[in-house]
Formats: sequence, C-alpha cells, structure tokens
Amino acid sequence: MSVTKDQVLSSLARIPTPRGVSLTVAKVLSEITVNSGKVFFSINVDASEARAWEDVRAQAEAAVKAIPGVTAVLVALTAERRTGTAPAGGVKPVASHQHARPADSPMAQQKAIPGIKSVIAVASGKGGVGKSTTALNLALGLRDLGLKVGLLDADIYGPSLPRLTGTKEMPKLTDDKKMIPLQRFGLPLMSIGFLVSEDTAMVWRGPMIQSAMRQMLWDVAWGDLDVLVVDMPPGTGDAQLSLAQQVPLSGAVIVSTPQDLALADARRGITAFKKVNVPTLGIIENMSYFQCPHCNTRSDIFGHGGARHEAEKLGVPFLGEIPLHIAIREGSDEGRPVVESEPTGPHAEIYRVIADKIKNQLKAQPTAA
Ligand SMILES: Nc1ncnc2c1ncn2[C@@H]1O[C@H](COP(=O)(O)OP(=O)(O)OP(=O)(O)O)[C@@H](O)[C@H]1O
Ligand SMILES: [Mg+2]
Repeated sequence: MSVTKDQVLSSLARIPTPRGVSLTVAKVLSEITVNSGKVFFSINVDASEARAWEDVRAQAEAAVKAIPGVTAVLVALTAERRTGTAPAGGVKPVASHQHARPADSPMAQQKAIPGIKSVIAVASGKGGVGKSTTALNLALGLRDLGLKVGLLDADIYGPSLPRLTGTKEMPKLTDDKKMIPLQRFGLPLMSIGFLVSEDTAMVWRGPMIQSAMRQMLWDVAWGDLDVLVVDMPPGTGDAQLSLAQQVPLSGAVIVSTPQDLALADARRGITAFKKVNVPTLGIIENMSYFQCPHCNTRSDIFGHGGARHEAEKLGVPFLGEIPLHIAIREGSDEGRPVVESEPTGPHAEIYRVIADKIKNQLKAQPTAA
C-alpha cells in the first residue's frame, strides 16, 4: 500500500498547535517528503517557541506513524533564533573593525589560553542545523583519535551541553578560584547552562556576553588540551566576534544542511570568520540524506550534496556528510551522543573520519595539536 502526501496532510490537520490553529494551517511545515513508506518533514518555528512545539512534533510523528503503510517517519523541529540583533553597546560589528589600525583592533586583545594548543569553532549561519550535536560528536571523534579534547558551549542564549550530555552540576572551584570543568565521556565540559538558569542568560547583552565568554575561556581549569572545540550559537553576532577577538582561533568548522537557504547562511558564516582572519577548516553537510532506521536504505531526499558544491565554489575543504538518523537525534536528546553510545556503529565512524580530517589540518598549522 503506498502512502500519499494527502494522507499525511489529513492526519496532520487534526493536530492542534500553540498558535490556536491546526498544524497544517500554522504555516510551519516544510515540504513533506514521502518515499516508499518513509515520511520526512520539518516543523520550523522561532526558537522562543521551540519548547511549546516539541509536543506537536511528537504528536505529528505518532500520527504519521499510525497511517497504514508508513514504515518510517522522522519529524524534525528546527528552531531558528533571530540573530544579528545585538543592541547598541555590544561587540562592534565585523565591518567596523575591518580596517582598524592594528593597535586599535579588537583582535589586539587576543591571547592564547595557557595549556590549549588549538581552539576550533563549530558554527553555522542558521539555527537548528545540528551544530551542537555535531560539535559534541566531533569532540568525541577527536578524543577517539587520541587527542586531549575539551568542549565549550558558547551558546549563551540557548546552551545545549546540559541536554546533550545529561550533565548539569554547578562546577566546583580550585583554590585559585578557577572553575573545574565537568567531566563526561572523558571530556572536560563547560557551558553557561551549568552556571545560570536559561532565563537569566536570555536577558544578557553584548558586554555581559563578552565577559561570560572571557570567564568560560580563561577562568576555567581546562588543563592541557590538544583541542578545545567551541560550540557556537547560530549566526554571526556578538558571541562569534567576541570569541574571535579573545582567542586566536585555529579555524571554524561550518555546519550546514543541504538546502539552499541554509547554504546561504553557511556562506555568510564563512565570510564573517574570514573578516576576522579565522580560516574555515571545512563544511560539514548535516542531515545530508535520510537513512531508514529499519532497513538502513538511504534516500537522497533533500537534494543532498549542496554543501559539497558550496565548499568547492568557495574553495574550502568539504569534510563530510552526516545522515539524518533517528539514533543521532534520540541519543543527543537523551544525553547519549552516538559516538559514545554506538562507538563501533556507522555514525561514529563518520564523525571519526571528519575528526581525522580536522586533526590533519590542525597538524599542518604552526601551532599544531
Ligand atoms: N544528523 C542528525 N540526524 C537526526 N537528528 C539530528 C541530526 N543532527 C541534529 N539532529 C537533531 O536536530 C535538532 C537540532 O540539533 P542541534 O541542537 O544540534 O542544532 P544546533 O544547530 O546546535 O541548534 P541551535 O542553533 O539552536 O544551537 C536536535 O533535536 C538534534 O538531536
Ligand atoms: Mg546549538
């Protein structure tokens, strides 16, 4: 029995939403893809509404699963945060310090963190493309390659590490008042989510973000690390610039989905890092293709390959493709990243191959890991 898009739509039409209208009229649905019984679509909302919509996502998934003939269903909730709205008094926009004299340049504040050989940023222009999931699994991949790795969640407005690692304790202090990073999966971890409630961080502005970033970089007893992986908030706002201004970054890894719109954002991200002299280590295509959790067949239903072409066009390395797979989502939402929970599985291998490419690039740099 073949499933049709109309069947999917009529089951979604019965689902209420926080906007007081049914899911099919709330103007949040992406294109619905139905491919031999496999159904995929996403619900796109603003980040401020994301929590309220998780229940809708789960209901939508259950409703579609109940349609006879449906063999697999994946509904992604992509929550886009508005970016680039830093209020007056925040970090100077990139354009304003492009031509600054060296001594005046905000980059003049840069200093390396003692004991840390390389700092890399995992970034994207657009929200919800899987940066945090990728950052953690890549950090674990680098760990598996024998490097000493730490992970800093620099997303002040929407920290993810507490959820991704199932860890949320207040860090203890050393005698000289440095925060001791939490340890999980052999990685030292730091996140604003360990320190303050989400509501507190939400109202922070430019200078407070800078000061929070400074503390999370220098007032943490990171120990000796080959690589500190920094999970960035979406966009090219205060936190990105603040990080680039404070530490010499070895490079940025840009995460994108294959869709054109996300690629345009990825391009903007690369340009922003370039303006502050941070090289792009490469682009990763996340949610690249749909992999059926039951039969393992692969469907290229989102026009996969867009990021590879974009990388070629921009002359930056293409680092790899990560499938859209339920094991990646469920694991990361339950504090069990896939590289840790299925270390011998195919996904862990994909992350390790990408990690190896990054490791080699860092090795080639003067301050190599
Ligand atoms: N390859 C994947 N397969 C399936 N689900 C994924 C994949 N990558 C990420 N996800 C899921 O997509 C959602 C968003 O991922 P994540 O939080 O990592 O994105 P983000 O880019 O860090 O978001 P934000 O912009 O809010 O920081 C999560 O529910 C995550 O589990
Ligand atoms: Mg994130």
